[in-house]
Amino acid sequence: MIIEPAQRTRQTSEYYFSVKLAEVRKLLAAGHDVINLGIGNPDMMPSESTLTILAEAAHKPQAHGYQPYVGTVRLRQAIADYYARTYGVALEATSEILPLIGSKEGITHLSLTFLDPGDEVLVPELGYPAYRAVSQMVGATVQEYPLREDYGWQPDWEAAAALVTPRTKILWLNYPHMPTGAPATPELFEAAVAFAHRHRLLLCHDNPYSLVLNKKAPLSLLSVPGAREVAVELNSMSKSHNMAGWRIGWLAGAKPYLDAVLKIKSNVDSGMFWALQEAAAEALSNSELWHAERNAVYASRLEAAEAFLAALGCSWDTQQEGMFLWGKLPESLALAEAVVDELLYQKHVFIAPGFIFGPKGQRYIRLSLCTPEERLWEAVARVKGEA
Ligand SMILES: Cc1ncc(COP(=O)(O)O)c(C=O)c1O
Repeated sequence: MIIEPAQRTRQTSEYYFSVKLAEVRKLLAAGHDVINLGIGNPDMMPSESTLTILAEAAHKPQAHGYQPYVGTVRLRQAIADYYARTYGVALEATSEILPLIGSKEGITHLSLTFLDPGDEVLVPELGYPAYRAVSQMVGATVQEYPLREDYGWQPDWEAAAALVTPRTKILWLNYPHMPTGAPATPELFEAAVAFAHRHRLLLCHDNPYSLVLNKKAPLSLLSVPGAREVAVELNSMSKSHNMAGWRIGWLAGAKPYLDAVLKIKSNVDSGMFWALQEAAAEALSNSELWHAERNAVYASRLEAAEAFLAALGCSWDTQQEGMFLWGKLPESLALAEAVVDELLYQKHVFIAPGFIFGPKGQRYIRLSLCTPEERLWEAVARVKGEA
């Protein structure tokens, strides 16, 4: 006998990477040296002082009990200071910041908090898969708004406006954009805030890449006048601080929005390990030099990543930000899924196919820069048949 899972499990399929990385593990177990350029999982360490504080804090007797649902005062203050320093945005530490167990869970909490079954959600036609999956899980209908490739992958606001109905409740936005690497600009954020006001919807901005290979000063959507009335922002230490496995992010925005999210979230988890919060507070004061050195390593890997795309005959935009390189397949190659499988099984190189970010990605691939330079060059050699 088997007890039937709920309907929602039928609308959602297992996360692509969850399935594909199992295949990668199988190949590794069979003795193949797979080069993984798939997932954005930083391979560098958090700052030294972060690790020192983590170890010290773990030895304190008060470290091991339940912690506040809203995060420690120290962590929230550290996030407020970081927002002021990094983005020039003033946040009230007691009411405008909600620490999260990674920003991914924030996507679920926002969806549970603001969406009723039958509500509609605007997601970018290429984007982080969780926006779509979670909207569907809570019974909302997803509408994909187009991005204009000819205009640096910015939203096509006119086309998005045509998709709005009285049930449209949330618009998901993410710049620097994953997977295309399109940068954030003040004009784009102003247009987004104006759109949210005009159509009376909640703008959920997801901002994990603003410090990774950014070419200009990092931007927060909350810096736009009028944003706090209609927008909230997710942020994360996964990529910017090399702390993906720590699961630390936060939601920033006006108190009424965060209070509503806390109603849901406080019924789901019971706070975050104290030592992690202490160490995260420390990491948020990493120097500009620390960030610049991390970016220099990613920058040194770009040449090899570009050589990889060139070896496949792809084209790409050199202005990309974030920790990936997004490339367009040449007409002579098959769709991305077949190309990815061929590379995995013939060359033992794993890359992400563009379609996992939306159907528009069929003819694109995404390389992660989270692999040492010499391994990237090894991948290039394999593609060229020289290894
Ligand atoms: C656009 C985007 N949003 C959110 C996340 C989730 O990050 P976190 O590790 O904070 O849950 C990712 C992770 O890859 C991402 O690419």
